[in-house]
Amino acid sequence: MEYRLLGKTGLKVSDLCLGAMTFGRETSESDSFAILDRFVESGGNFIDTADVYSGGMSEQIVGRWIQQKNRDDYVIATKVRFAMGPGQNDVGLSRKHIIAGVESSLKRLGTDYIDLYQVHAWDNLTPIEETLGTLNDLVRRGLVRYIGASNFRAWQLQKAIYTSRANGWESFSCLQPQYNLLCRATEYELLPLCEQEGLGVIPWSPLRGGWLSGKFHRGMENPPADTRIAAAEAHGWGESWSNYNNDYTWTVIDALFEVAKEAGKTPAQTAINWLLQRQAVTAPIIGARTIEQLDNNLGASGWALTPKQIERLDKASRLPVTYPYDDAAESQQRAGR
Ligand SMILES: NC(=O)c1ccc[n+]([C@@H]2O[C@H](COP(=O)([O-])OP(=O)(O)OC[C@H]3O[C@@H](n4cnc5c(N)ncnc54)[C@H](OP(=O)(O)O)[C@@H]3O)[C@@H](O)[C@H]2O)c1
Repeated sequence: MEYRLLGKTGLKVSDLCLGAMTFGRETSESDSFAILDRFVESGGNFIDTADVYSGGMSEQIVGRWIQQKNRDDYVIATKVRFAMGPGQNDVGLSRKHIIAGVESSLKRLGTDYIDLYQVHAWDNLTPIEETLGTLNDLVRRGLVRYIGASNFRAWQLQKAIYTSRANGWESFSCLQPQYNLLCRATEYELLPLCEQEGLGVIPWSPLRGGWLSGKFHRGMENPPADTRIAAAEAHGWGESWSNYNNDYTWTVIDALFEVAKEAGKTPAQTAINWLLQRQAVTAPIIGARTIEQLDNNLGASGWALTPKQIERLDKASRLPVTYPYDDAAESQQRAGR
């Protein structure tokens, strides 16, 4: 694994981040420990969890694992925003919920600081000044080292960056967006903004919940029963079979199989490597339910798809480009006197 700086910060993170969303949900504590051990043996130091994952169990599992390690060797990222209880103030990005959230996450993680504290999504009900002022206080109090945003729209992220800057506050160091071969709308505004402002980018669902893992191929009539994609249908999650069983998905997957074969890599490694080659991307957050899946996905780092292979994947997954991103709009921006 290689190391990269997170955005404009001096923080060095492995170019694959380990996502802990399966811990305590599809993956038992002992299997989660084995996954964490294998990830760090392979050179990884960057681990992403959230307060809501498995109702707090994901943080607890990471916390119990890290007790046996040298905590300072790892970059632990977690998140706040979604409901952690039934109360009116158990949710959102108010000062009250963020402070309760960080205190609870620190307890579950069994640590006295969080390396990267991310807001899980925008909150329409709380003024951004309240959220950012509180996050700034957490950094000043030494509870949090860096702050990040997830699932923001570009205008929200730009507004937040300017608000922090105008007040002399700590500003977001990175964005955690969904980004993968089946989700390229992230490229319209968010990635150029992150490059302009020097934010790191840590894409979630690099395999779109399993669609790009190599176990789905054109002609299948239903997802295998023991997969996330099958479960997604029942839970109404975004990566469900009915949301993705369409010609665009199968065209992307056809190209992925072809390129993987030519590169001598697995489809999962190829899909994650495509992300690793994107200029704005710092570290895709890999997910794994089993150690075998982790081993496969770890093989995404340490090599590079050729420009032609990237072009083949780009072409198959291209989205329609309309105003204000089309060539006509682009040339208006370039026009001089
Ligand atoms: N900020 C956010 O809103 C947000 C949202 C989602 C995720 N995340 C973060 O991103 C991380 C990764 O997201 P993700 O879990 O959706 O990633 P993903 O890699 O797109 O999907 C992971 C799932 O795909 C299947 N899979 C993975 N590797 C495989 C392989 N080699 N072969 C076959 N199947 C494979 C497994 O599901 P099955 O085997 O069960 O089918 C696994 O649980 C999470 O852990 C979390 O940290 C953040």
